[in-house]
This record gives sequence, C-alpha cells and structure tokens, in this order.
Amino acid sequence: MPAIDHLGATTRSSPLWSADKVTVIFVLGGPGAGKGTQCAKLVADYGFKHLSAGDLLREEQDRPGSEFGEMIKTYIKEGTIVPMEVTVQLLENAMKATMEQDNKHMFLIDGFPRKLDQAHAFERSVVPSKFTLFFDCPEDVMQERLLNRGKTSGRADDNAESIKKRFKTFVETSMPVVNEFEAQGKVVKVTATKSPDEVYNDVKAKIKERGVEPIKITFVQMQE
Ligand code: C5P
Ligand code: MG
Repeated sequence: MPAIDHLGATTRSSPLWSADKVTVIFVLGGPGAGKGTQCAKLVADYGFKHLSAGDLLREEQDRPGSEFGEMIKTYIKEGTIVPMEVTVQLLENAMKATMEQDNKHMFLIDGFPRKLDQAHAFERSVVPSKFTLFFDCPEDVMQERLLNRGKTSGRADDNAESIKKRFKTFVETSMPVVNEFEAQGKVVKVTATKSPDEVYNDVKAKIKERGVEPIKITFVQMQE
C-alpha cells in the first residue's frame, strides 16, 4: 500500500468521490467483535476490497522512515485514537490505489470511523458511506477472544492492560459514532456472540435488506 507523503485529504470541503461511483460500508464493533473475520467472508462472496484502518496504521508504523511511526505506536499501545488526518489520508491513498490497480470501487472499511471527527472528515472530504455494519458483542466475549488471539497475533495491544483501555475508548469515543449513524438510519446491527458462520448468515440476510447482494458467477456452457 502507498505510504503517506502529505496530509491534504481532510482539508477538502467536498467529497473526492460520489457515493454513486464508490460504495463504502463502514464496519464497526468493539475490539474482538469479529470485524476482520466477517470482512474476510464478505470479500470472498461479494467482491469488496477490505481495508482495515488498524492494519493500515500498523503498516505505516512499521514503514522505515515514516514520520508518523512513533506517534502511531504510542496511540496503538494506549488504545487511543490516532489523529484523524493520518488515518483518513491512509484510507484515501489505499482506496485510490485499489481503484487504479484492481478497478474495484466497493470497499469495506473495517475499524473506522472510531471517533466522530473521523466520521465527519471522511464523509465530507472522501465519500459518504452507504451504511455501517455494526457487530454488537459483550465485553467478556471480546476479552476472551482477544486474549486468545494475543497468544499468536504478536500485537502489542492484545494484552489485558491494553484491552481494558481499548474497551474504554470504544465505549466513550467510538459508540457516539454508531449512535449518530443510527439516528440517520444508517446502521445495520448484528449480534456477534455466536460462531463466525452463524454471525455471517445474519450479516448476509441483513445486508440483503439494504440491497447488497453476493456476486453471481454465471458459467456459460460452450457449444461444440
Ligand atoms: O482495529 P484495530 O483493533 O486493528 O485497531 C488497533 C488500534 O489502531 C486502535 O486501538 C487504535 O489505537 C488505532 N486505530 C485508530 N483509528 C482507527 C482504527 C484504529 O486510531 N480508525
Ligand atoms: Mg481487525
């Protein structure tokens, strides 16, 4: 993915793309709610490009010479939200690259927007979202999943201390985003406590109601 060399995206006063041309579905839920797992399934059946804001931030953090690396590292460890100018720019760059290289215009943006300023800046200056897929999951279930993942993920924030901070940030900073979109009728809520396949069945049924259908592959029998 392209790195950031400038931070201009959020200064724009109108969207770069129209929602007719570019489809964006935000994917939210607490840490460990299963956003990444469900996004992988949706990519396979619907042909979306999956962009995880957290993954893009970790990539930028590890990019040699990044002027934002140290700052990103501190925010992630503390479970707080990286300044939106960086995250929105990373997303815009990744979307541009996907459109140019893969000619794809449908995006699942996972773990974003985690704060109201990110939501407002993205919709104002990049593209308005179609809706937000929200995975609702109790903290005890998420905590168990994260501690399990921590055994192999190598992530600096999958430990009890960081998890506690991430939960606090989620409730205080990210839930207001879900509530604002909900008031606009733009939230599709799915309970995320069951198995990945059971949750996915609910996801498919609920996004169908919003007009999102799987890609149909038609095999044409060649005549001899
Ligand atoms: O989504 P994920 O759990 O991978 O995010 C890891 C961390 O990245 C978050 O706890 C937060 O510090 C940072 N992040 C952010 N803004 C986002 C997404 C992630 O600051 N929109
Ligand atoms: Mg994730």
